Amino acid sequence: MTNRIPDPARFPARFTWGVATSSYQIEGAPRENGKGPSIWDTFCRTPGKVRGGDTGDVACDHYHRLDSDLDMIRDLGVNAYRFSVSWPRILPHGRGAVNQAGLDFYQRLVDGLLTRGITPWATLYHWDLPQTLEDEGGWTVRGTAEAFGTYSAVVAAALGDRVKHFITLNEPWCSAYLGYGIGIHAPGRHDLRASFAATHHLLVGHGRAMQAIRGQAPGAQAGITLNLHHTYPATDTPADRAAAYRMDGFQNRWYLDPVYGRGYPQDMVDLLGDLSPQAQGLVLPGDTELMGQPTDFLGVNMYSRAVGQDAPGEGFLHARQIRPEGSAYTGFDWEVAPDSLTDLLVRLQEDYAPDAIYITENGSTYPDVADEDGNVNDLERTQYLTEHLAATQEALSRGAKVAGYFAWSLMDNFEWAEGYDKRFGIVHVNFDTQVRTPKLSGRTYRDFLARAGQAVGA
Ligand code: FCB
Repeated sequence: MTNRIPDPARFPARFTWGVATSSYQIEGAPRENGKGPSIWDTFCRTPGKVRGGDTGDVACDHYHRLDSDLDMIRDLGVNAYRFSVSWPRILPHGRGAVNQAGLDFYQRLVDGLLTRGITPWATLYHWDLPQTLEDEGGWTVRGTAEAFGTYSAVVAAALGDRVKHFITLNEPWCSAYLGYGIGIHAPGRHDLRASFAATHHLLVGHGRAMQAIRGQAPGAQAGITLNLHHTYPATDTPADRAAAYRMDGFQNRWYLDPVYGRGYPQDMVDLLGDLSPQAQGLVLPGDTELMGQPTDFLGVNMYSRAVGQDAPGEGFLHARQIRPEGSAYTGFDWEVAPDSLTDLLVRLQEDYAPDAIYITENGSTYPDVADEDGNVNDLERTQYLTEHLAATQEALSRGAKVAGYFAWSLMDNFEWAEGYDKRFGIVHVNFDTQVRTPKLSGRTYRDFLARAGQAVGA
């Protein structure tokens, strides 16, 4: 990389600068005002699934602290906020009667953002599937995709006069593989066939949600958020290059190709054999078009890269991800690889030509140490942030149509299977007192945005 110090003046004037969260990770209030149970409520109650037996029952208590949290977002100087809508707050059993109290919460959230001059970005699904739908098969059955379309129409109709940016799904790879394939996320199933069935129904659900948004909120921009890793071969041998390409197929192309109207990559369908949705008889006529509904932007969640090595007989990919020596790693043991963000963004532009790319998540966890006032001098996270902003700037200069950046996360929160052990916030949360304190990274981001002239009202 040429320059690791980002220059705020080198970003477009109308650039979207935001912070991101998701419903289950921050809201708490799992049974309030008519909310139904989600798969994460259930999973957290299953012994041994979440570190320390942590749950999202309280999380950041955001549901009860909405106004002060909105003030905090404003004070960071961002011009956008990405949140997710909890499906079981709106439709407690996934379909059927609408729970107005659930919708009211998001109306207040959206109005509170607009009053403060912040653009709302609503994600429709960030992993908290209504438990009732999981009991009917969850994402392994097509009915869930249809129900997701109906739910999306309800939300788009209710919020679409004020929300002009919708994201259908967050990271379907995680829902399908971590949730149904290897069971480390809800609903905790260990079944690869089921996980590839889930990939298909998630993508069909994305298509249904796109149709619903177009129908109910015609002026809104809409797209999907994928978690993408730029993938490199461990060596330049043909075998390692092919292995890296298979890993790219599993992580990236399996989602990108259908979303951009190309259907599934044939090399992967062949490799998967009996596991594929095709072999399971799940791909119906018209699905390629449905999954490929035109989007306005691509949402990219990027944390690290992947380095692949040929490993005959290992898993269904016959490939292994290696841990390069000499690199820096975050507290999740994810390699810090800002150059790979530049490579990823440039590659996406070249291969898929999105109208706009938004980095909808990027961030890092480290073992923070807070002083008694809650101050965290998180030098590593601050460096991670600035290096990735610089990498984004580099991608812009190389022609990638990057239009926004959302830091993950606004504040420390419930980090799924890791509970409260892994902190990603640029604002520290004391989970005993719920006091929030911006970390060095948060103050650095705020100062950067002030210099970019992007502070609210500017
Ligand atoms: C992403 C998730 C987000 C958060 C970060 C660390 O995969 O979308 O909710 O957990 O990782």
